[in-house]
Amino acid sequence: MKTLHISIDQKKISYEIDFLENFSELHSRILSEIAGRNHVFVTDENVFEKTNFFTNIPKEKIVILPAGEEYKNWESITKILDKSFEMCLDRSSVVIAIGGGVIGDMSGFASRIFMRGVPVIQVPTTLLSMVDSSVGGKTGIDTKHGKNLIGAFHQPEKVLCCKQFLQTLEFVELQNGLSEMVKHGILGSEDHFKHLENFSEKFKENFLEKNNRIEIENAVFSLVPESVSIKKNIVQQDEQEKGVRGFLNLGHTYGHAMELLSNFEIPHGIGVAKGIWQSVIESEKRGILQNDIDKKRIENVFSNFNISLENPFSLKEIEEAMVHDKKKKDGKIRLILVKKIGEVEYGNL
Ligand SMILES: NC(=O)c1ccc[n+]([C@@H]2O[C@H](COP(=O)([O-])OP(=O)(O)OC[C@H]3O[C@@H](n4cnc5c(N)ncnc54)[C@H](O)[C@@H]3O)[C@@H](O)[C@H]2O)c1
Repeated sequence: MKTLHISIDQKKISYEIDFLENFSELHSRILSEIAGRNHVFVTDENVFEKTNFFTNIPKEKIVILPAGEEYKNWESITKILDKSFEMCLDRSSVVIAIGGGVIGDMSGFASRIFMRGVPVIQVPTTLLSMVDSSVGGKTGIDTKHGKNLIGAFHQPEKVLCCKQFLQTLEFVELQNGLSEMVKHGILGSEDHFKHLENFSEKFKENFLEKNNRIEIENAVFSLVPESVSIKKNIVQQDEQEKGVRGFLNLGHTYGHAMELLSNFEIPHGIGVAKGIWQSVIESEKRGILQNDIDKKRIENVFSNFNISLENPFSLKEIEEAMVHDKKKKDGKIRLILVKKIGEVEYGNL
């Protein structure tokens, strides 16, 4: 088993991210983490039905929410809080989020506000949540005014990342996670980007052409710790997004706008990929992008993952949809622009 250690100095908080192979390992880790505490599991109907993780867990201990971004709202939070009261949870209890980014963000938020804070254990079940949303403590919900506009920072007590969840993921969910991994590669390291480039060639040959799913799951899971490390290093420097953490929003300002405009037909990760591409084009226009080779490399990796970078909306529509984005500074919409692979900078729209 591999383990990464994350430490937020300002809050004197630290926790571990464990990487596990299968549900049998995961079940025993969860049991030892619960350590006799009262607890509730939160999941969505897809994870509950499609994976066999919950086979031996009593249903009355589980909040099963409808699946999808459109349910990342107050109603779902109320369901988690009501169940927590029914089960007599208190501050010595623990909430266990078993799901993708939507369930992770909502369980984190509900556990932050329940009795002013109970611990949460994040068990990410999508590739995107493994490499990104389960780590770093951002939690929240969407409103009609925009995505993630209500929320709080609440670092998990533990993150348990298990490969077996990849087996039941739809292909587009692998692509969503791969987009965030490409983002980490662009932000963090030439090495990780190179590994992703190599993997993307194999992905194209072995998965798209030969449909060898198990091989792809093994290869992609082996890259997860490297990708999480890039996020972890950034979060450790700047938990509350006052400086470098904002770089993790690369592609998100455009991406969130496209998600909203498409009524969430464009999922988060694919929106991020399209958003990264808009940022690259904008960086080139402004003379910030230092060379054309990096642009080509980014385009190739997404193309090998069969992710379309096409933007179906006009820039005017996107700018209007950006109005409520949190990523503003002094009233101006903030963009992350790409200088080269491994280096980005802030800019205004
Ligand atoms: N907190 C953060 O730092 C952070 C970072 C990135 C993204 N996010 C948030 O994460 C969300 C996106 O996360 P996501 O892409 O995981 O979406 P998601 O949680 O909606 O999951 C995607 C789909 O996969 C299904 N699913 C999940 N696990 C499965 C499994 N193992 N097998 C089969 N189906 C499964 C879900 O039911 C859902 O239909 C967005 O709301 C975004 O804002 C948060």
